[in-house]
Amino acid sequence: MEKENNWFVSAFKPEKRNWKHYFGGFAFVTIFLQLLTGFYIMFFYDPTLDNAYKSIQYISNELFMGSLTRNLHRWIPALMLIAIFIHTVRSLLRKDFLPDRHKKVLWLTGVLFTLPLFLFLATGLIIPWEWKGYFFMEMIPNYFEFLPVVGPAMKKFFIESFTIPRYYVIHVVLLPLISIVLLEYHILRKLKKRIFPYMLKHTVVALPFFILLFVLAVKIPIPSNAEVMPPMPLEGQWVFSPEWIFLTVLLPIMKVKGALVPILSIAFPIVLFLGFAFIPYFLKSKAEASSDATPKKRASNAFIRFWHNLKKTSFRRKVVNFVIVTFITLSFSGLLLFAHYESPTLGCNSCHNIYRGMRMGIPPETFKDRGKNPVLEDNDWMMNHWYYPNEIW
Ligand code: HEC
Repeated sequence: MEKENNWFVSAFKPEKRNWKHYFGGFAFVTIFLQLLTGFYIMFFYDPTLDNAYKSIQYISNELFMGSLTRNLHRWIPALMLIAIFIHTVRSLLRKDFLPDRHKKVLWLTGVLFTLPLFLFLATGLIIPWEWKGYFFMEMIPNYFEFLPVVGPAMKKFFIESFTIPRYYVIHVVLLPLISIVLLEYHILRKLKKRIFPYMLKHTVVALPFFILLFVLAVKIPIPSNAEVMPPMPLEGQWVFSPEWIFLTVLLPIMKVKGALVPILSIAFPIVLFLGFAFIPYFLKSKAEASSDATPKKRASNAFIRFWHNLKKTSFRRKVVNFVIVTFITLSFSGLLLFAHYESPTLGCNSCHNIYRGMRMGIPPETFKDRGKNPVLEDNDWMMNHWYYPNEIW
């Protein structure tokens, strides 16, 4: 009994129900890591227009472990998002949400969690106040224009209300609070005292991925020494960046025209999101389904019969599920890569640096002033400049 209570020993004991949510546990550890790295750089970041970029330069170039921490903080979301994606697909295939009402709440809180994640990405991009942050601050409000009725007023509101401290507070206070509430329902409440063994276990089994994370953070850092070593304009093509996730919704603005834009970038994501969030409420559980289906009706469905035969043994079921999950994940990551590989994730500093008179880190003359530079109003120009800065400027 003594041994049972020892969390260190129990950390290495296989426990069946944990492995069912291997990627969920994995995502949980990445969330914790993100919190830790964020906590460190938070102490050195100065959220004011004049000093934000300078403090980021200090963190990246001088602070002990600063560059590593900052780049980890940028790479962790990539792994987190993939883990959450796989966790969602697996839960969906297993229909984890069906057994009871409690499980439905788990699904709902999981899907809702994607909203703060999105806002973390957006605010996290803006606050370093590099040229990309400036771009986001000018570009995202434009996007609200496409909303019917309230659009123009919202656009004005987002431009005028922008200040770095506001977005910073959203990033480090508001969003973490919302996330903790959602995670409390989703996992924390269940873990309670098991939390440390649980995390240790998941860290141990995910070790190879965490090593990969360190390699990425060291080998592909954000160029932050532009004055000394400006990057090339197209640097970072093919390099995955968290902003891809956000920009996917904006891509239709660049790639298609007319009525399709609001459909693809507003209506479709909303329908997809709501559909996903409420899946458990319109899918029936096995018990419910078999009580209304007559045996004849069930037998006539050749596909379902085929499916059940395929998954008859637990080993076969595992293999089939593995293949499906891998296929779906690779297809989605492939589409994401295909849509965004041209974006030179790291190259903005090559032109937007002090030598070209386009300083980074301070608000340019055109800050919030579309009268001074009408291109800021032009969504097409903005998106094209992001993806093809060497051609469109
Ligand atoms: C090849 C050089 C080059 C690269 C690389 C480059 N830009 Fe630019 N950018 C320019 C030039 C030149 C202008 C001025 C164009 C104008 O005002 O008409 C500009 C203007 C801008 C503006 C509008 C500035 C204003 O007046 O307020 C934004 C925003 C911007 N760039 C963001 C970015 C971002 C984000 C990246 C990286 C994804 C990037 N740029 C990469 C050359 C570049």
